[in-house]
Parts: sequence; structure tokens; C-alpha cells
Amino acid sequence: MPEFAKVGVVGVGAMGGGIVQMAAQAGAEVVLFDARPGGAKAAVEKLGATWDGLAAKGRMTAEAVAAAKARLTPAASIADLARCDLVIEAIVEDLEVKRKTFVELETVVRHDCVLATNTSSLSVTAIAAACARPERVAGYHFFNPVPLMKVVEVIDGARTAAGISGRLAAFAREYGHRPIACIDSPGFVVNHAGRGFGTEALQIVVGEGAAAYADVDRALRDQVGFRLGPFELLDLTGLDVSQPVGESMFRQFYGEARFRPSWLLKQRLDAGLLGRKAGHGFYAHGPEGQEKPPEQAIPRADPRPVWVVAVESAWRDEIVAIVQAAGWPVASGPQPPDDALIVVAPLGHDATAAAEGLQVPATRLVAIDALFGLAKRRVIMAAPGADTGFVEAAHALFAADGTPVTRIRDSAGFIAQRVVATIVNIASDMAQQRIASPADIDDAVRLGLGYPQGPLALGDAVGPERIAAILAALNGLSGDLRYRASPWLRRRAGLGLSLATPEP
Ligand SMILES: NC(=O)c1ccc[n+]([C@@H]2O[C@H](COP(=O)([O-])OP(=O)(O)OC[C@H]3O[C@@H](n4cnc5c(N)ncnc54)[C@H](O)[C@@H]3O)[C@@H](O)[C@H]2O)c1
Repeated sequence: MPEFAKVGVVGVGAMGGGIVQMAAQAGAEVVLFDARPGGAKAAVEKLGATWDGLAAKGRMTAEAVAAAKARLTPAASIADLARCDLVIEAIVEDLEVKRKTFVELETVVRHDCVLATNTSSLSVTAIAAACARPERVAGYHFFNPVPLMKVVEVIDGARTAAGISGRLAAFAREYGHRPIACIDSPGFVVNHAGRGFGTEALQIVVGEGAAAYADVDRALRDQVGFRLGPFELLDLTGLDVSQPVGESMFRQFYGEARFRPSWLLKQRLDAGLLGRKAGHGFYAHGPEGQEKPPEQAIPRADPRPVWVVAVESAWRDEIVAIVQAAGWPVASGPQPPDDALIVVAPLGHDATAAAEGLQVPATRLVAIDALFGLAKRRVIMAAPGADTGFVEAAHALFAADGTPVTRIRDSAGFIAQRVVATIVNIASDMAQQRIASPADIDDAVRLGLGYPQGPLALGDAVGPERIAAILAALNGLSGDLRYRASPWLRRRAGLGLSLATPEP
């Protein structure tokens, strides 16, 4: 027997239809209700076709398809949900409409029926507050498309009784989803943890004019392994969806600096540059897909001595090997010779701070981001007033073996260091706030956002002390509170502990 033998789904559109599929595949009888006349019947037919398709591909047996189909019952009215053990609401995202639906549901269902909402942005607590028995109400937040996105946030509202979310989690495991236990808070886990990626990218491009959109996307794909860069992701989601979410999260956290949106998204939304669906976003989108802006042109330069210094000796070795492979002379000695190109690999600092710290001429200095390795892409930058000939020489040198090179303006933490540090810091603060456990935060982000690693695991892979150093440098340069390190991160970095380390 499934955890909930009889499940009702109210609102069987894009999300509700997928939820019905999961519940039926887990063996539950499912009653479908939709306000749109014929909507429930249409959803039953659509699911039947989906299962027939799975059978045709050999992914379901004919018997399983017949059994699943037999478990679906379209309802003519909400009263038909009377005998359900669980009702999941997936109607329009409107607090008042949802509250009205929950009030009506309570007049119909048994006293022990669990009620769940698939809201993505409203307060579960505020929806439950309309109910006579808010303790039976929880959030059950799925992702689109439900059958493929195998993760669901199980959200405890302020008055949700103990045991409710445990049952919803057990049910999720029955249809093969990873349940994420979290408390009711803006954005829950996935949408909260996902704020850093685009916000910091916009800070780099717009707030500081340090790099172009395509450069940020390429750096994060090639250096860190994200499938899509932040601007590609904004284009895919559409600004009509993501811009209001960003504004709402900032408001709901009462102006938390970490979530401060960029004015640019509102402007581009007003301009209709929504992204892929409009044909124009940060990129043009045509029949051949997304435009591919060309890489920066590689300048020509003659070999000259290169003096290398890096905050980590392994980084210096890697850079020296590239210089030697290109056939350029490596200058040794405590000070750079007069004609040498100075290459530095800083952590968190910009080229200006590196020149100041080393007391070497900023005009001949080029900084390179070595934190994520130098194999797939090399991001370089120079201080204001740097000699173009030296910057072009560095570009030519690092491109000599065919590896793409991205030149940006001076930026504390380049692109990848600062975006990764931001993501790790936000996730750390979520753990600090007990929104979810470290393991749940990591799995939610991996499965819900498709990041190559969970944010805390990513922080551990980079090293919590390094993440803390990047944030300290960013905070020092800008004074912006968005870069203040979470106590969770600071303590673990200071003690040399993993970011997954719980407290007794
Ligand atoms: N689409 C997503 O990516 C996504 C992801 C997670 C959560 N959600 C949430 O899921 C819910 C549904 O979103 P969707 O994308 O499936 O929308 P949708 O428009 O595809 O489906 C909503 C369905 O609810 C029905 N409906 C509307 N008001 C109703 C009412 N009062 N009573 C009964 N049925 C009603 C509509 O007829 C429609 O069939 C929203 O709360 C949304 O925020 C959406």
C-alpha cells in the first residue's frame, strides 16, 4: 500500500498533471479536479497517452499502464475528493484563490486528510492560516517537468503538525523523488539557494561593468562546469518569470543585500527582451538556437620574459608550465626584470590589489584566475592604466596552446571565484538559519537547479578558507554587505571543517 492510498489533485495543469502521474505510478488511487470544465477528463486522457508512450519505448509494461490508468478518476466537483487521504493543490498562484480552495476542501475531506500546496512563491503558513486545522497543511513543491525533476520540497508551515512532512517525504520516495525537508521561508530551498548565480553575474556585468554577458556565461561553464551560464539561464526561464521572483525574494527578506536585484532586468522586461520565448534576450534566438558570440580575437605578440607569482605554489607551477610550453622565458628572482610581463594568480583580489601588495608595476601586471585550473578556459584581467602591449602579450601567451582566453576588466575575484563564493555563502547561511540540513540543501540544488555539485560540496571542494578569503577581499574592496560571510562559513573555515559539519 502506498503511504497515501487515495490522493486528490486540485488543478491538473502542467504541474498537477505530473503530480497525478507520480501518485498513480506509486500505486495510489487518484481523483483529479480542475475548475476548467472538461479539464480533469482531458488530463486523464493526456496521462493515458503519456503512459502508452512509455510502454511503446519499453519503459513501462502493458500491465503497469493498464493498472495506472485504472487508478485515475476525473471528478465533477470538489466534493468528489471526500474520501482522499491526501489532497495536493496545484491551481493558479494566487494567495486568495488558494485560501478559498483550502477552506472549501476542509468542508469536504475527512478530519485526518493531509492537505498540501504546490505553491512556488507564496507562504505555506499564510495559505494554511485560512484553514480550521492548519496543522494538517504542508507545502509540497515540485519542479517542472514533474516526472523528470526528481526532487520535491516538503515544507513545514509555522503550524504544521509533526509527522505530516515525514509522511509526504515517505510518499515521495515511493514514486522515486528525493524529498527535501525544509521550513516555510521565502523561496524554500531551491529558489533561495539559486539567487546567487544570476545576482552576482549581474553585479559583475552591470554593477561593475567588468565583463560581457557571454564572457560570464563561458567562464562559469568552462571553469566550474555549470551546464548553462547565468544569462543563458535567464534567457531560458524568461524575464517575465525570473524578474518578479527576484523582486519578490528581495522584498520578502526585507532588503537583504545578498538578494538585491539589478535594475537591468526590469528595464529588459519592459523592453520585451524576455529571452528564448521572445526570440531576444541576452542572446538572439533563432531557428538555429541561441546565437554564439565569437571569442575575443587573439592578438599577436612576441615572446618576452614572464615573471610569475601566485598565492598557491601549485598555481605557479601550472602557469610556469604553460609559459615554458609556449617557449617564452621564465624570469626568476625576487623582483621582476624591467621588461618582464608580470603574471599573478590572486585569490579574491583584483589586479590592482595584487600590484599594490607585491609592490610591482601595475602597468606590466596581468592577473589570471587559477582557482579552477587552467585547462578549459583562462580568464585574465589587468589594473586600470595597464600597458595594452603587456595585456595583449599575456592574452597571446595564454592562448598559444589553443585554450580560449577571456579578458575582463579588473574585478576582485574574477568571474568564477566571486560567483562560486556567493553561491556557497548563501547556502551556508541557509544552513545557519536551519532552513534545511546541509545534505538536503546540496541535493535540492543539484537536482532542482542542475548544478554540477551541491553548493556546500562545491564550497568544500574549493576549500571553505578560500571561499572565506574571496568574500573578505570582495567585502574589503566594495564594502557591500552582500559579501559578508555567513557565520556558518566563517566558523567552519576557521576550524578547518567541512561545510557539512553540523552542530551538537
Ligand atoms: N509551472 C511551474 O514551473 C511550477 C513549478 C512549481 C510550482 N508551480 C506552482 O504550481 C501551481 C500550478 O502551476 P501550473 O504551472 O501547473 O499552472 P497551470 O496553469 O498549468 O495549471 C493550473 C490548473 O489549475 C486550474 N485551476 C485554476 N484555478 C483553479 C481553482 N480555483 N480550482 C481548481 N482548479 C483551478 C486551471 O484550470 C489549470 O488547469 C502554481 O501554484 C504554481 O506556482 C509551478
